[in-house]
Amino acid sequence: MQRNTIGAFTAFAIFIAIIAPPCGARADNVEPFHTQAVTAADGMVVAQEGLAARIGVDILQKGGNAVDAAVAVGFALAVTYPRAGNIGGGGFMVIHRASGDDTTIDYRETAPAAINSKSFLDAEGKADPQKSRDSALAIGVPGTVAGLALAEAKYGSGRFTLADLIAPAIALARDGVTITDDTADSLPRDLPRLERWPSSARIFLKPDGGALAPGDWLVQPDLADTLAAIARDGPRAFYTGPTADKIAAAVQAAGGVMTAEDLNNYHAVERKPVRGTYRGYDIVSMPPPSSGGVALVEMLNILEGYDLANEDRAQALFLMIEAMKRAYADRAWFLGDPDRVQVPVSYLTSKDYAAVWRGTIDPAHATPAAAIHPGAVVRREGRNTTHFSIADRFGNAVANTYTLNFSYGVGLVAAGTGIVLNNELDDFAAKADSPNAYGLLGYDANAPGPNKRPLSSMTPTIVLKDGKPFLVTGSPGGSLIINTVLQVLTDVIDRHMDIAAAVAAPRVHNQWMPDRVFAEPALPSEIVAALEAKGDSVVVRRLPTSANSILVTPAGFAGAADPRTRGALAVGY
Ligand code: DON
Repeated sequence: MQRNTIGAFTAFAIFIAIIAPPCGARADNVEPFHTQAVTAADGMVVAQEGLAARIGVDILQKGGNAVDAAVAVGFALAVTYPRAGNIGGGGFMVIHRASGDDTTIDYRETAPAAINSKSFLDAEGKADPQKSRDSALAIGVPGTVAGLALAEAKYGSGRFTLADLIAPAIALARDGVTITDDTADSLPRDLPRLERWPSSARIFLKPDGGALAPGDWLVQPDLADTLAAIARDGPRAFYTGPTADKIAAAVQAAGGVMTAEDLNNYHAVERKPVRGTYRGYDIVSMPPPSSGGVALVEMLNILEGYDLANEDRAQALFLMIEAMKRAYADRAWFLGDPDRVQVPVSYLTSKDYAAVWRGTIDPAHATPAAAIHPGAVVRREGRNTTHFSIADRFGNAVANTYTLNFSYGVGLVAAGTGIVLNNELDDFAAKADSPNAYGLLGYDANAPGPNKRPLSSMTPTIVLKDGKPFLVTGSPGGSLIINTVLQVLTDVIDRHMDIAAAVAAPRVHNQWMPDRVFAEPALPSEIVAALEAKGDSVVVRRLPTSANSILVTPAGFAGAADPRTRGALAVGY
């Protein structure tokens, strides 16, 4: 296998990307702390913004199922949490049905037909982050409307029309919402991205040029009209006709290449989940084009070979970090859009493969990243995001993560539509060995190409016990996401922590390259010292994630909003 893993790799750029991720969850001024879980008997929604979470619970109380609630929350967050909630981006939904079936909806953005492997290079053939992150070339064809509509049509209860579920979002867009919590925190910081476009400035800035401030009203009449058209005519009101024409015109006027035909051709795809097992629990997670499920199951398989519950904390984290290095190396090498490249999912997620990797781990010494070559045995088969978790009294559950990539995406609102557009195409490997905004490397499998879906780290996950929902989780955070889900899961299963404690507990992160372990400030310094003594290079940093999760307990649903970001809410009934 030919690789040039460190080659053009710029550790400095990656370092910056990780310490200041451009994405949705932040940890400013908030140390992780232990909060109480919210408990309820009949249903639970945990989302990043409270108005939207309450809309979801209202749907559950009216007899809706978890999918109905997820669709209503998905549209509502597009209005109330504009940095990440969206109809101009894309994402993934994992669904467990009370009948026992599990499925996923892939509504990831696609590259416009005119994108090719050179689209994000400069004149010298080097990766050009300005093109892939800050220009209209970065905008992928949005998938959210198609994905939410597909989920509702196939898995909604039938008690509500799509229009019923969009109605609360339309009202909030038309009447306005007050600026508070995380939106108040993020708008001033992301102002430079938004103020470049008059269509965006008109919505998010005050006439004096400052960002909307706490207590100001965010009123979005164009978005209300766009949502009303979708409510009336279904997703074709977004992908064809005047809305599609306005999106294409806005993207092209800003220098991008998306056409109305690209929008006409977009389809959300239902895919079989990635499955695994861990100490008697079933893991149901997102398959490619997300790397999340594969990497999560791969790490859990490696870790199952150790008695984590009885290891001391530093050693358990050391082993987890070793698993992270190996799974993220495989991510970089093997994973991409499954409709374009052959991804060896069943091999990477097998117990045998994990055993081979486990054999390369020295429990006393950290393995340098450069010594890890993706594919322990080579055998091939043939930055803003938000996560919400929902469980209903019928036994259904939904884990949904969706994104614009950066906060407020590329910052461009398509004039006349109110739609904030993503910059998702930076998740492609613009060039082999050139890191994306989250410092992730990629190779041919994730090269940019026409109509292709960029590889994601989003990891909406449902853990089942005896076929029934046990844990519903996921997170924003770019490359941090997969390891966040891993740690919430092992904190609950191995350390028997309650869900609030597991969500709040300090986390660590390693993504193979750079060869660093990032640790949250609340991690005890003795543990940092123990990891360093074994050879890991540890950097203490806030890690902006937000794992809004639900645990199903004998006493009912326990919901935990992640305390790292203001405004998240667990609410049940
Ligand atoms: O799909 C992905 O992996 C990234 N675009 C997610 C970005 C993200 O999580 C940013 N939020 N904090």
